[in-house]
Amino acid sequence: MAERETWATRLGFILAAVGSAVGLGNIWQFPFKTATTGGSAFVFVYLVAALVIGLPAILGEFVVGRRANINAIEAFDRLKHPAWTVVGALGLLTGLWILSYYSVVGGWVIRYIAGSATGAYFAAPADYFARVSMGWEAIAFHAAFMALTASIVAFGIEDGIEKATKLMVPSIVVILVGLAAYAFTLDGAAAAYSYYLSPDFDYIAANLESIVPFAVGQAFFSLSLGMGAMITYASYLGEVDSLPADGSLIVVLNTFVGLLAGLVVIPLLFVQFDGIPDTAAGGGPGALFVSVASALADLGAAGQALGVVFFGVVLIAALSSAISLLEVVTSYLVDNYGASRPTVAFGFAGGLFAVGSLSAWNTAWLGWFDDLAYSVLLPLSVLLGVVFVGWVYGPEAVDELKKGTGGGETFATAWLWSIRTFVLLGVFVTLYLGVSSIFPAPDIPLPAI
Ligand code: PFF
Repeated sequence: MAERETWATRLGFILAAVGSAVGLGNIWQFPFKTATTGGSAFVFVYLVAALVIGLPAILGEFVVGRRANINAIEAFDRLKHPAWTVVGALGLLTGLWILSYYSVVGGWVIRYIAGSATGAYFAAPADYFARVSMGWEAIAFHAAFMALTASIVAFGIEDGIEKATKLMVPSIVVILVGLAAYAFTLDGAAAAYSYYLSPDFDYIAANLESIVPFAVGQAFFSLSLGMGAMITYASYLGEVDSLPADGSLIVVLNTFVGLLAGLVVIPLLFVQFDGIPDTAAGGGPGALFVSVASALADLGAAGQALGVVFFGVVLIAALSSAISLLEVVTSYLVDNYGASRPTVAFGFAGGLFAVGSLSAWNTAWLGWFDDLAYSVLLPLSVLLGVVFVGWVYGPEAVDELKKGTGGGETFATAWLWSIRTFVLLGVFVTLYLGVSSIFPAPDIPLPAI
């Protein structure tokens, strides 16, 4: 068997992990879920979740991946706990489930690169979005996104993934900062900042049950947790790297990009609509596209060029995340059955294209796929992973986390206890609330006494 590749440099791993984390979840989804799920209250719960649950959980996936040095499915076998392969398998399924509709949104982004070049969406941004987000056109662009993803995965890890990600993070930050600064200068933006950034704790307390599943689910989605992606990437990692250092950097960067995207989208929506419009007018999944479109339209010809660059960079962010989803199943079949990379990558991409076409045909499907991913699949998958790392693998996990940190015993032990206690509890509560929101308890009247 050929020796397994490892990352050429530590930077290679960080870039790829950041590439997986930073994507449509941050740029497209975070701002629109914030807009529709309570504004600053959502942001507050999200931040707490990313730090208190997300960071320990991502370290758990790194530990499993690096220790096992193999794809997410076989990892548990390698660690001598074959029954827990179910975690890898559920992650793989969840990842494929998500990729099916993620690709539809990726298709919209490609559509908007073309639309920017011609200024097609300038005149009526919300109508344009309504037209291109569903139907045959959306299916065609979804196919294009899936084909691009499969082509990159087919080239193999170093060629495809490391290179694609290098430019993406700095460019996305520069462009988002520029757009956020522009939004800041507009009349009417002030109300947006208070909606977005000043949490009302009474409101949070009163609505916690409905905010938690979205905000914590968003943290998982955004950090690429519960899908085997981080396990798979960490499996290419050498022993000298410090997992806590890498993990913290990834969480911070990822959160930063999401917040920045919100600083663009939410003020732009407020300026244009005097608040958050309803979904049909661009307040839902169309928020990024509709809000940025109007800002670009104000810039005239320069807006066309900037639009191509902006959506171009968003496309790279989306691709580097989609790649990590497809990589999970590909590395499994390649490692295990000696399958050919291109065959697996294109084969699965074809299947996912078919399933995702439902979401491209009608965004109601997209919403349904997304709800199920957030409320059930992601928290369930993360929960099982956390139970495994905390209570089954325990001391060995501590041992692995310490490597490359030059000591780090206290940190690693504290980490294990966090996983065993409040991280586990937090994920469990999230799953419980998520499941009850999807399958509400039947409304049975109490018998009269
Ligand atoms: N984290 C990515 C984003 O925020 O867009 C999406 C994602 C990629 C989720 C890879 C899961 C994953 F395994």
